[in-house]
Amino acid sequence: NLNKLLLGSNRLGADIWSLITSLTNCTRLLELSMDGNNLNGSLPKSIGNLSTHLQKLKFGGNQITGTIPDEIGKLINLSLLEINTNKQSGQIPMTIGNLKKLFILNLSMNELSGQIPSTIGNLSQLGQLYLDNNNLYGKIPANIGQCIRLAMLNLSVNNLDGSIPIELVNISSLSLGLDLSNNKLSGLIPQQVGTLHNLGHLNFSNNQLSGQIPSSLIQCAVLLSLNLENNNLSGSIPESLSQLPAIQQIDLSENNLSGVVPTGGIFGKPNSVNLKGNKGLCALTSIFALPICPTSPAKRKKNNTRWLLIVILIPTVTVALFSILCIMFTLRKESTTQQSSNYKETMKRVSYGDILKATNWFSPVNKISSSHTGSVYIGRFEFDTDLVAIKVFHLDEQGAHNSFFRECEVLKCTRHRNLVKAITLCSTVDFDNNEFKALIYEFMANGSLEMFVHPKLYQGSPKRVLTLGQRISIAADIASALDYLHNQLVPPLIHCDLKPSNILLDYDMTSRIGDFGSAKFLSSNFTKPEGFVGFGGTIGYIPPEYGMGCKISTAGDVYSFGVLLLEMFTAKRPTDTQFSSDLSLHKYVDSAFPNTIGEVLDPHMPRDEKVVHDLWMQSFILPMIEIGLLCSKESPKDRPGMREVCAKIASIKQEFDKTM
Ligand SMILES: *[C@@H]1O[C@H](CO)[C@@H](O)[C@H](O)[C@H]1NC(C)=O
Ligand SMILES: *[C@@H]1O[C@H](CO)[C@@H](O)[C@H](O)[C@H]1NC(C)=O
Ligand SMILES: *[C@@H]1O[C@H](CO)[C@@H](O)[C@H](O)[C@H]1NC(C)=O
Ligand SMILES: *[C@@H]1O[C@H](CO)[C@@H](O)[C@H](O)[C@H]1NC(C)=O
Ligand SMILES: *[C@@H]1O[C@H](CO)[C@@H](O)[C@H](O)[C@H]1NC(C)=O
Ligand SMILES: *[C@@H]1O[C@H](CO)[C@@H](O)[C@H](O)[C@H]1NC(C)=O
Repeated sequence: NLNKLLLGSNRLGADIWSLITSLTNCTRLLELSMDGNNLNGSLPKSIGNLSTHLQKLKFGGNQITGTIPDEIGKLINLSLLEINTNKQSGQIPMTIGNLKKLFILNLSMNELSGQIPSTIGNLSQLGQLYLDNNNLYGKIPANIGQCIRLAMLNLSVNNLDGSIPIELVNISSLSLGLDLSNNKLSGLIPQQVGTLHNLGHLNFSNNQLSGQIPSSLIQCAVLLSLNLENNNLSGSIPESLSQLPAIQQIDLSENNLSGVVPTGGIFGKPNSVNLKGNKGLCALTSIFALPICPTSPAKRKKNNTRWLLIVILIPTVTVALFSILCIMFTLRKESTTQQSSNYKETMKRVSYGDILKATNWFSPVNKISSSHTGSVYIGRFEFDTDLVAIKVFHLDEQGAHNSFFRECEVLKCTRHRNLVKAITLCSTVDFDNNEFKALIYEFMANGSLEMFVHPKLYQGSPKRVLTLGQRISIAADIASALDYLHNQLVPPLIHCDLKPSNILLDYDMTSRIGDFGSAKFLSSNFTKPEGFVGFGGTIGYIPPEYGMGCKISTAGDVYSFGVLLLEMFTAKRPTDTQFSSDLSLHKYVDSAFPNTIGEVLDPHMPRDEKVVHDLWMQSFILPMIEIGLLCSKESPKDRPGMREVCAKIASIKQEFDKTM
């Protein structure tokens, strides 16, 4: 009358043969647990004479040898069968398919060989199948797809070959995990992998899979970990991987992936993503130890990777389903005419639809920054391999129109290595017939100076701290560009909104002044005084005289530059709460200048040994701060001109470079 015999986790050293034979008379046995003992010998054929009522059979973690007898198929009431972690060899019997009520089958960690029996597909109740860590070979049987309740499938560490059956990735019940790692699987990862929308863990690592990573993975909405390490996957990383909502770990290392690493989502957390061992990858930012995607025109031709920044000016886009449908229709019409191999030619003909598609319909994931007049996105045109970054101006906001036209005007008339370069503009209407305007710029791989001067605001990416040399070099670049705008353009151009977030850094840290949305030419039209209204600028950087109704002048930019310089060396914003009308950033630095200047310097600026530091202080830091103080003087008359400032900084830079 024995129902259950539970002797698991002991040190019983019986012979399994005699044990089972002696139990065949227990005709009411429901459960037999002998796992975690020292059972040896091999399973007898009389196992089939155990009670047909038997539901659970646990022999895991013993030293059982030999093959699994065909007679096991007689135990038709089994829902749990565990013979894991033993020394079972030979094939898995075909009769296993008779165990129609089986829910968990654990044969992992044995020496089983041969093919996975196709009768496995008869186990329609099967929820968990562990065959990992054996010597199974051959193809994975396609009719495993009939196990429509399967939540966990582990076939890891075997010698399975052939391709991944589509039927397998169609098992939408898979949730706990799908592990096919450490086999010899080849061919493509089926697109149907997107069917696995309940799956938490996907591991296809250490196989010979080739082709591209399917973009359909985006449908795996609860995927927590994705491991495709050490295969032969090629092509680029689908942008969609950055949009997986639940993902926590991605390992794509040791493949042949190439192109641009996506920037959004998990790709902002370098510790959660492994990309090493892919020779062709490059990144837009320095957060992965990957080459920065080249931006210079020379490199661009060689690698066919170009970075663009598109500034788009459109009324606040409300992309209704209707307009998406319109776009899709239009895109289909346009795509044939857009297949131009000549990049410049193609770029001139960028349409609203192209830009929409390039930015994933202005997806928030693609957005990198935002201001009152517009937002900047990264994207990629369908007809080109390059990423683009997109600034969407909100034309219904006051000043956004002017800002666009000013910017166009400036870009048309300027050419300097330290000013952002525009490639083209797009001026049209969107599909709601609202005005739409876009400017296309080269993309600046290292973001803005803001991110470097105030790195703690950008958690998630490693702290990026500027060296003294970089600070001097950036100051020299900005001064050179301002000197050009003020003294070499006729009429002179005033930027009017100089601040760290408008200084963009190229892949090699060359800086360029951007955002000319507030800029004004100093022509006769502008000789009359201009009030604060209608004037752009940013609190903290606006010279005091503008607030008093004085006309704009080059001295205004000089003031902003001075504040920016002090900010770069102190890492303190002019709008910091510690400052007020009584204590400005200028006064704060001035009161420490020169003797206690060390106390106000950016504490994160890397310092050398004391001797070197003292020398640097005298030769470079103090002179730079002094320029910052001079430029940010209260009265415009007392400030130097940009020509003088530029020359001074250039000579400091020259001296500094000699010490390197
Ligand atoms: C199993 O039971 C049947 C019927 O009682 C018997 O004929 C057979 O010999 C038994 N098999 C083994 C291996 O003991
Ligand atoms: C399987 O178990 C159920 C419930 O214990 C029982 O009613 C049934 O008869 C068993 N089937 C066989 C073939 O013994
Ligand atoms: C299956 O066996 C393996 C190896 O012993 C073990 O790690 C795993 O926990 C078992 N699975 C279940 C569901 O018992
Ligand atoms: C069991 O599986 C085999 C092979 O897949 C198949 O031919 C057979 O019809 C199945 N039997 C049942 C009862 O489903
Ligand atoms: C599958 O089995 C392998 C080897 O036994 C193990 O390392 C891995 O963690 C298992 N996978 C899952 C998803 O449990
Ligand atoms: C890897 O894939 C490429 C095609 O992408 C193929 O030419 C090459 O033979 C594959 N290498 C291996 C080891 O499978």
